[in-house]
Amino acid sequence: MNVTVVNGSPRGEAGNTQALLTPFLIGVKESAAKVEIINLARKKIRTCTGCFTCYAKTPGICIHDDDMASIQEKLTSSDLLVMATPIYLDGMTGLCKVFVDRLVTFLDPHFSLGRHGVYHPLRKKFPGKMFLVSVCGYPGLKNFEPLVEHFRKICLNMSSEYAGALLRPAAFSLLLGKKYPESIKLVMDAARKTGKDLVEKGQVDQGTLDLAAQDICTTNELVQTANSYWDRELSRKTTS
Ligand SMILES: Cc1cc2nc3c(=O)[nH]c(=O)nc-3n(C[C@H](O)[C@H](O)[C@H](O)COP(=O)(O)O)c2cc1C
Repeated sequence: MNVTVVNGSPRGEAGNTQALLTPFLIGVKESAAKVEIINLARKKIRTCTGCFTCYAKTPGICIHDDDMASIQEKLTSSDLLVMATPIYLDGMTGLCKVFVDRLVTFLDPHFSLGRHGVYHPLRKKFPGKMFLVSVCGYPGLKNFEPLVEHFRKICLNMSSEYAGALLRPAAFSLLLGKKYPESIKLVMDAARKTGKDLVEKGQVDQGTLDLAAQDICTTNELVQTANSYWDRELSRKTTS
C-alpha cells in the first residue's frame, strides 16, 4: 500500500502534530506500507486563484508552477492520504487549506448527482481513503468537531472514503513526560497501533483512538501549567 502523509503544521518537525505523527508513522511503516511524508511548511504551494483553468483550458493542470505538481504525482499513485494538522481557530491551518483547495485539479468540471448531493467526479486517480491526524491546545474532543465535520465533507468532495481520525486534545500535556510517563506511553502506543491497524485492517477501533485521546492530567492542572508557562514567558519579556 502506498501512503502519503501531509503535515500541515507551520511548526513542521518541531511541532506537537509531528510528536503525534512520529509513533503513528512507526506503526504505518511496521506494516510494510510505502510512505511518503510531505511537510507543507517546507513546500511552495500558492493559493488557488479560482480561475478554473484546470477545469477546461488545461484539464487537470494548474496555472501555478510550484511544488503541488510533484505532490499531485505522488497522490495519483497513493492508496491512502493522511492529513495532519493542528487546530487553528477551530479548523485546519492555512497551509492545509491552501493544499486542499489545490486538489480541485483532480476534479472533472461536470456536475454529477450522487447519494450525498451534487459533486464533481474525479478526472484522475486520487487516494481511495483519507485519514485525519490532529492535535489541539484545549482539553476535550469537542474542539475537533468542526474540523472532523469539514474533513468528512472534503472526503465526499474528493470521492474518497473517510477512514477515521486520530485526535489528541491538550497536546501540551504530552510534554509532561517526567510526571506522567505511563499515561504518555499509552497515548504513544495507541498512536502507533492506529498507524499499523489503519494500513493492515483499513480501519482503527474506537478503543485505540480513545486511548490516544485520554486525559494525561486534570483540566485544572493543564490550566495551571499553561498559565505558569505563559506568566514566565511574559515576565521574561518585561524584564529583558
Ligand atoms: C493561530 C493559532 C490558533 C489556535 N487555535 C486553537 C483553537 O481554536 N483550539 C485549540 O484547542 N487550540 C488552538 N491552538 C493551539 C494549537 O492547536 C496547539 O498549540 C497545537 O499543539 C499546535 O500544533 P503544532 O505544534 O504542530 O503547531 C491554536 C494555535 C495557534 C498558533
